[in-house]
Amino acid sequence: MKHIIAPSILSADFANLQRDIEMINNSEADWFHIDVMDGVFVPNISFGFPVMKAVNKYAKKPLDVHLMIVNPDQYIEEFAKNGAAIITVHYEACTHLHRTIQLIKSHGCKASVALNPHTPVILLKDILADLDMVLIMSVNPGFGGQQFIEQSFNKITELRNMANEIHPDLIIEVDGGVSISNIDALITAGATAFVAGNAIFAAADQTQMIADMKNRPEV
Ligand code: DX5
Ligand code: ZN
Repeated sequence: MKHIIAPSILSADFANLQRDIEMINNSEADWFHIDVMDGVFVPNISFGFPVMKAVNKYAKKPLDVHLMIVNPDQYIEEFAKNGAAIITVHYEACTHLHRTIQLIKSHGCKASVALNPHTPVILLKDILADLDMVLIMSVNPGFGGQQFIEQSFNKITELRNMANEIHPDLIIEVDGGVSISNIDALITAGATAFVAGNAIFAAADQTQMIADMKNRPEV
């Protein structure tokens, strides 16, 4: 199956958000990646429901919502109402992760868990069968444009091996420092979905960069 490209609107030009949304609509991108940060779970504040609503109004592709917030349960219904197709919560922010996953699914969304760079993949073993996707953070969450952490390759391979045993259809998404120079190796390691902010929005031709990241020679 062909891999998924999810441009992160965190790197978009918010003064021209509709233009950037249309660029993604008209590109080979698969999803919109939406980074919600609360200034508590991560040392940055991004945006919340007003921006989510604006994206939902114009986006013609599924919204992949990455919640970098504490107490996500409190807001899941509202994100679902505002068009989230997939909701990712952080392992590190959920005391009762199983309950949170069930809550996401009860609102008709796909359920996903993100792991910070220091969190081992084995911690997901007993919940993997319930998940649609796992997001491997390949930078410390909070900012776009950071350098990819190389150890992420081992985590992806380990997770792919674990998924092959328990849940072969699991989507493995990589988020942080993904670019045209490491995407092939990430596909080989077993990742199937790729978030890219800086790599796309800093490119001279954004649509072409999305096409280049999407159309890799089969690996
Ligand atoms: C970081 C966010 C990422 C970010 C990725 O905390 O979760 O989605 O937008 O940006 P790049 O691709 O620039 O590393
Ligand atoms: Zn993200």
